[in-house]
Amino acid sequence: MRVTICIGSACHLKGSREVISQMQDLVAQNGLVDKVDLNGAFCSGNCVKEGVCVTVDGELYSVKPEEAKGFFEKEILGRM
Ligand code: FES
Repeated sequence: MRVTICIGSACHLKGSREVISQMQDLVAQNGLVDKVDLNGAFCSGNCVKEGVCVTVDGELYSVKPEEAKGFFEKEILGRM
């Protein structure tokens, strides 16, 4: 599974760094390092969304730092 987190300037201001570090921790805690390919990406032109732009296998989501755990459980763990 390929997960891409936007690190463009607008998403950076919305907390992309925090989303990335939470995702890294959650992936490691759940033993998914081999299964989930976490990447950073530059602005995908979706800055108008409320949260940080995250794609999971090409599907676009908007994730705020406080939603990262729930997002991980639903969209990443939930699809394993
Ligand atoms: S900065 Fe993330 S979509 Fe533009």
